[in-house]
Amino acid sequence: MAYVITENCIKCKYTDCVEVCPVDCFHEGPNFLVINPEECIDCSLCEPECPIEAIVSEDDLDDNNKDFLEINRRLSEKWPIITEIKEPPSDAKEWEGKPNKKELLEEE
Ligand code: SF4
Ligand code: F3S
Repeated sequence: MAYVITENCIKCKYTDCVEVCPVDCFHEGPNFLVINPEECIDCSLCEPECPIEAIVSEDDLDDNNKDFLEINRRLSEKWPIITEIKEPPSDAKEWEGKPNKKELLEEE
């Protein structure tokens, strides 16, 4: 079992989640973070750190987010590890809770 990051993180990317992870399994892309589900030890420490509730147990993924387990797995293989909090995008607040952000996910 693993926790994964879901659609609401896209373009918000607050990074409050990364410093609590005991196994450093967060990876950073241009406008989204992912968790490597193969490395995650299911400790749940990161889940309450996200101010917009973007981190979810793989068992609790809703229909809109069910493909995010695969997205987290795939992108964690190509994006670098992030372990320190950084400034979010200047317009992060405006993107909180917006629908249909999946199409805005930048992979490169
Ligand atoms: Fe890291 Fe624990 Fe979150 Fe998994 S559940 S990503 S091990 S902090
Ligand atoms: Fe994203 Fe929330 Fe972490 S917005 S970067 S999952 S704190």
